[in-house]
Amino acid sequence: MSVHKTITVNLGQRSYPIVIGRELLDGGFDLTSFVKGRDCLIVSNETVAPLYCKRLAPNLAGKTITSIELPDGEEHKTVATMQTILDRLVATGANRDTTVIALGGGVVGDIAGFAAACYMRGVAFIQIPTTLLAQVDSSVGGKTGVNHARGKNLIGAFHQPRAVVIDTDTLATLPDRELRAGLAEVIKHGAICELGFFEWIEQNIDALLAKDPAALAHAIQRSCEVKAGVVAEDEREAGRRAILNFGHTFGHAIEHSQGYGVWLHGEAVAAGMVMAAELSGIAASDVQRLCKLLQRTGLPTEPPTIAAEDWMRAMGLDKKVRQKQLRFVLLRSLGDAYFTAAYDEKRLGQIIGRKI
Ligand code: NAD
Ligand code: GLY
Repeated sequence: MSVHKTITVNLGQRSYPIVIGRELLDGGFDLTSFVKGRDCLIVSNETVAPLYCKRLAPNLAGKTITSIELPDGEEHKTVATMQTILDRLVATGANRDTTVIALGGGVVGDIAGFAAACYMRGVAFIQIPTTLLAQVDSSVGGKTGVNHARGKNLIGAFHQPRAVVIDTDTLATLPDRELRAGLAEVIKHGAICELGFFEWIEQNIDALLAKDPAALAHAIQRSCEVKAGVVAEDEREAGRRAILNFGHTFGHAIEHSQGYGVWLHGEAVAAGMVMAAELSGIAASDVQRLCKLLQRTGLPTEPPTIAAEDWMRAMGLDKKVRQKQLRFVLLRSLGDAYFTAAYDEKRLGQIIGRKI
């Protein structure tokens, strides 16, 4: 058995472990206790499956495994792709004891989780995230779903996994651009609620970019601890959980306006965090500090050109909107985020280039 660390997401009867370590695939971590019945469906994609799918078999000894490969890409995060998973579950005679296992990045995890939430009104689900972004963010917390042609993640469900198993060795094959996109969410966790972690990232960004295993393991662990803590406080985003969406109101609008997959999610969130920091009205030196760290990470700090009406249309479909009122996650200072409908409209107009 390999050495690993476990963080618990405390949600009463729906609590689950996040297991983080090296060499967890290839039998390094026994998954069978998290598989409800005998049958499991591994959902992966055409890029990740050839790398890791067969290697999962020793972790599932004695179970009956079927698998499905989805097309790769954010543009395939649709109801139609989710339907192919449901079709496979029906075709294989899956029942309420079947377990869906997501093996891949955030796109695979979000689609597979949503299929698991819908099939027979909910079957068991395990997350095996293989991108940094999925390991530090999307695999934890139970948000599942797909995009709509009119807006990001508009269709989905809360459905918590039974376990999240993070084999950090999978990052060896991750392209650098994807690594940087994942680091955007790591930086987000520091920026919203832990200045000390933000400082640690500043000091260790070169090691993280060089895929230093110890630095990555620390970044993943701290991110999962931050996220698990927030989710345990507010599972269904009645309030506090919204801080995890820092930069996302702008970021989702960027992703949607450019066409899904053109800007990576983490890249859009990076530029969106700078816009949200500017909207916050915090000290210019703090905005600069955030920009500098994102630039050192190789992430964009400015959005693409988008017409003001398109910003407003896309942001109007944000899930945080209430009574047509936009709400934003803003910063009191670096490391201290809050969620509010009270923002400076004139400043927002300046940021998105709208005349008010
Ligand atoms: P992704 O799933 O598209 O993965 C990025 C690319 O890396 C893909 O081409 C994928 O095939 C490839 N890949 C994955 N693992 C690999 C590996 N180990 N080696 C080589 N290639 C690998 O993108 P992502 O950044 O992981 O996730 C982004 C998605 O996550 C977005 O749709 C976003 O909305 C969603 N998200 C969800 C939540 C949530 O709470 N549910 C949170 C944040 C983001
Ligand atoms: N990524 C935001 C959330 O999980 O709430």
